[in-house]
Formats: sequence, structure tokens, C-alpha cells
Amino acid sequence: MFAQLMKQIFRTKAVSSKDHGELKRCLSAFDLTLLGVGAIIGTGIFVLTGIAAANQAGPAVILSFVVSGTACAFAALAYAELAASVGGCGSAYGYSYVAFGEIVAWIIGWILLLEYSVSVAAVANGWSGYFNNALHAIGMGLPDALTKSPELGGIINLPASAIILILMGLLIKGAKQSAQLNTAMVFVKVLAITIFVGVAIFNVHPENWHPFMPYGWFSSLPDGKTVGVLAGASLVFFAYVGFDAVSTAVEEAKDPQRDVPIGIISSLAFCTIIYVIVAGLLTGIVPYSTLGVDHPVAFALESIGYHWASALVSTGVIAGLTTVMLVLYYGLTRIILAMSRDGLITPYLSHVSPSTQTPVRVIIITGLIMSIAAGLVPLGALAELVNIGTLAAFVLVCLGVIVLRKTHPDLPRPFKNPFTPVFPVLGMLSCGALMTFLPQQTWTRFLLWLGLGLIIYFAYSIRNSKLNKI
Ligand code: ALA
Repeated sequence: MFAQLMKQIFRTKAVSSKDHGELKRCLSAFDLTLLGVGAIIGTGIFVLTGIAAANQAGPAVILSFVVSGTACAFAALAYAELAASVGGCGSAYGYSYVAFGEIVAWIIGWILLLEYSVSVAAVANGWSGYFNNALHAIGMGLPDALTKSPELGGIINLPASAIILILMGLLIKGAKQSAQLNTAMVFVKVLAITIFVGVAIFNVHPENWHPFMPYGWFSSLPDGKTVGVLAGASLVFFAYVGFDAVSTAVEEAKDPQRDVPIGIISSLAFCTIIYVIVAGLLTGIVPYSTLGVDHPVAFALESIGYHWASALVSTGVIAGLTTVMLVLYYGLTRIILAMSRDGLITPYLSHVSPSTQTPVRVIIITGLIMSIAAGLVPLGALAELVNIGTLAAFVLVCLGVIVLRKTHPDLPRPFKNPFTPVFPVLGMLSCGALMTFLPQQTWTRFLLWLGLGLIIYFAYSIRNSKLNKI
């Protein structure tokens, strides 16, 4: 009985090309890099850098970016190997189905749902900060009651809620993120950053970098909050979330075995460099303690008297964050479709509307839930929840490389994670360590989410899995 159950929950999917759809293979390594940069650069750098500098790390937030970037680099190498050898648009969910078996795949898929949906809500919060700042600039700013969540003294963050509903409408209509649109948006974002760098570089006051590390490396406060460079690293990790989205484009890549690893690694490298530069300049032009606002980059430029630059950067950020939300929202529906295709989630959700040819039900249900979350929960709490889930997925992807090398030694591996098993083990340790620096409350929420997932798995998925019918 027990042996039977174990066999059932650890059944694996074969590595096969059958799942690979008929999508057009049109993306080059360059397009994939831009896709990554499009999904990566967002609220993390434009908002959380300020919050982490003011509350957790001081100017040493630069080191926080280096620490979390390094952990991501190990995970990125593992993603690159698995995306090139196992493939499939289900990303980490699909790799785990092959490497570890159904229950682990389910857990990862369940975590990815959390990662993508909560990210959208979190980015909507960042979007709202810049949007409201722009409204203020033209004398039409909204009151705090309508721009802050109850925990921060408001009633609802209305712009954050509304933008998700607008995107929901767009996705229902079939607004498809195309490589060209993405390229344009990446350009706008990078332009916003270039303007910031161009202005900031001439306004640095090195005394702002002292004290460099006011909160040390790490400590836990009596109220459960954590401070220090490492606590900052576990928060700004959010800035890197999204590079894994490149791996979901494997079916559309021209030469996936070569281009997907290049896309993943080069987008991550590009963003890490940008983040370190922006974090260094931001803390160099104004005192770090003033940066705990919801639009720190624009705020810093205003503080040094560059109103025109602040307005331009805000416009770029508003446009740039919109695409991050679109890509992540789209990715969310895609992962739900993959899980529903495997029978682990009800087919009700993967129904495609004949008139719009989009999965309307899943778009509406997820959109409403995310809109409510974005309106009522503050950014910091949302971002930390995304981070813990994403880090857990990264640990398992690194482990997946080691397991698959043992269980499938002959699998073609066009890209090989260098120094295996040392690098994957370092990835597991560094991502695992970042998880431990997150606050207790985040862990509680995460464990509740996992518990709920396991209940659904045993109540529904285990019996409805497509593998049951083979
Ligand atoms: N990395 C993305 C951002 O920072 C999710 O907004």
C-alpha cells in the first residue's frame, strides 16, 4: 500500500519531444536576451533598492545586489543545462516532472504559481508609486487613502488594483507580447536607466557612502524584521526574478540548445551590472536614509533639482513596469495551462474561448485574485513571498542537474553546467541561505501555501494526473 503510494507520487514523465508545441521558432539569442531583460528589470531596481538601502543595508545595498546576483548565476547555469536538455515551456515544473517525479513537480508548479501571481501584484505596487508621483507632478495626485494598503495606513492601493484589471482586459483580447513590442519596451527602460546614470554620475557626493554598512551583515530585530547586507540581498533578489522566464520560450527559440543558455546567462549578466551601477549611484547622490519611498529613483533626481530627468525616468519606469507585469501575467497563465494539460489542475481552467482564442477563465480568475492582493498587501511583504518561493524553485533546479546526471547520464546535453556538482551545490547553498535571511512571517505564509498545495494534490491531482491513465 505504502510502496504503491510512493510509486504513484514519484512517477516521472519521460523526456520526450511530444509535448513540444507547434509554435513558430523565431527567436534568436539576442531576442531571448531582450526577453529576459524585459521581464527582469522592474520594481526590484526602481523601488526595492531604495527600501533595502533605507531599511536594511545602507549604501552596502550594492553588496546585496552582488550577493543575490551570484546566487542567481549558479541557478542560471542550472536552468541553462535543463532548458537545453529537457526543454518544454513548463520550465522548472517540467524539469522536476522528469527528474524527481510528480509530487515534486506539483510542488514546484504550485510555487511557480505563487512566484508569478504575487510578482504581478508586487510590480503593480511599484507601478502605482511612480504613477501617483506622475499624477502629483501634474497636480492631480491621489490621496494616501487610495494609494496605500491598510497596513500602511490607507484603504486600498487603487492604481495597483486597477492596472491589473486593465492588463486582464488586454490579455483577454489576445494582446500578445511580441518580440518587437518587447524590444521597444526594453529600449524605453534602458533609456530611463541611461538618463538616470547620465545625470547621477555628475552629482555623486562620496560622503553619502559613509557609513557604508550601517546595519552590518545580518541581524534579526525583536519585531521579527531582519536587517543587514544579507537581509537586503534576500529582498533585492526580487530584482532578478524573471530570468527564468527565458526558459519558458524554449519552444519558440530558433536554436534552443544554443540560444536559450546564452539568453539566460547574458540577460542575467547585463542586469547585474546595471543593478550594481544604479544602486551605487542612487546611494551616492542622496543620503540612503531618505530613499525609503515608493518612487526612489525619481525622488532622488528631484532632490538634486533635476525635475525634467525625474519626469522622463518616471515615464520610462511606468512603461517598463507595465511589460514586466504583462510578461509575468502571461507566464502565469502558461504554467497553469501546462499543469492543466498534465491533469494536475482542473481542465475547467484551460478552456480556451473560441471567440478570442485566449484562456479567458484563467485570465479572469487569476486577474481578480491578483488585483485584490495588489490593492491590500504592501510591496515589501509581497516581494518577500515571491522571493522565498523562487529561491525554493532555484534550489530544486540546481538539485535537478545533479539528479539527472545520475539518472539520465546519456541525455544529450548541448549546454553543460560547468564544475558539476560543485556549482549546483553552491547554487543550492547560496539560494538556501538567502531563504533563511527572510523574516519568520514570510516563512509562515510560504509554508501555509505549500500545505494548501499538498491538500489539493492529494484531494485532486493524484487521481486526475494524465500519468494515471497510462
Ligand atoms: N524582476 C522583476 C522586477 O524587479 C520582477 O520587477
